[in-house]
Amino acid sequence: MSDHASDGAATPSEAPVAENPYGGASSATGGPKRVRTRHFQNAKRDGIKITGLTSYDQLTARIFDEAGIDFLLVGDSAGNNVLGYETTLPVTVDELIPLTRAVAGAVERSFVIADMPFGSYENGPDEALHTAIRFMKEAGAHAVKLEGGERSHKQIRRIVGAGIPVMAHIGYTPQSEHGLGGHIIQGRGEGVKQLLADARAVQDAGAFAVVLEMVPADAARQVTELLHIPTISVGGGPHCDGQLLVWTDWAGLTTGRIPRFVKQYANLAGVLGDAAREWRADVASGAYPTEEHSY
Ligand code: KIV
Repeated sequence: MSDHASDGAATPSEAPVAENPYGGASSATGGPKRVRTRHFQNAKRDGIKITGLTSYDQLTARIFDEAGIDFLLVGDSAGNNVLGYETTLPVTVDELIPLTRAVAGAVERSFVIADMPFGSYENGPDEALHTAIRFMKEAGAHAVKLEGGERSHKQIRRIVGAGIPVMAHIGYTPQSEHGLGGHIIQGRGEGVKQLLADARAVQDAGAFAVVLEMVPADAARQVTELLHIPTISVGGGPHCDGQLLVWTDWAGLTTGRIPRFVKQYANLAGVLGDAAREWRADVASGAYPTEEHSY
């Protein structure tokens, strides 16, 4: 897309970069260009689907960036997937900052979004802005995400007013699991009215995109048609402007129950388990190490 022309090119990578869905240069033509919030708007306008994955470390961040994933979310799902908590509720800003710094430091093109954890923005706009600034200054995030529609619109407005892009998150919001009464699909039946009100509220507050988690596909379609900002589905069906998945679920690394909306694209748990068993057997038998692995 032509507005990429004036954007600063990142260092070209040796690895092939998937064709830039926004029309900017790929590595073959001079290096990937950083995804910006305007590219999210352009993608919606042009009907180009946006892709996002969670990432919590520099190794996966680099792989996903080189594969052309448009944005990486340093989600508070790190609570379950990295830190060993049962829910996302205990996660703190101090725990997410080093993970965000690792991801932001590894990418050339992907847009890096830091998730604001529970307890870091609910007290009001001042607290929310303070947290968002920490993610931008201390971790190098490009944007922040926070949960809640109408209830979070003042926080979103304040953060956006300070020049920090905000991705909103409505529908099922895991930080409110207990308030919502469990893992329950949102926006069903009459619930679509609240979903539409939440969507309008976050758009009016200045969010550049909104995650729709665990909502019926038809409700997500209505929100997508209503809004001029892109909708990003996490279990919101095919009508959204983009799709986001938790990478450990998507790559088959999660060993517990995974949500129905996830399609697994690999079986990393199987691959790593097989490798560990083979290596253990080789050490036991003396097949490893051999001379070629010794000094
Ligand atoms: O933390 C996370 O991974 C998320 C997504 C599920 C949207 O918030």
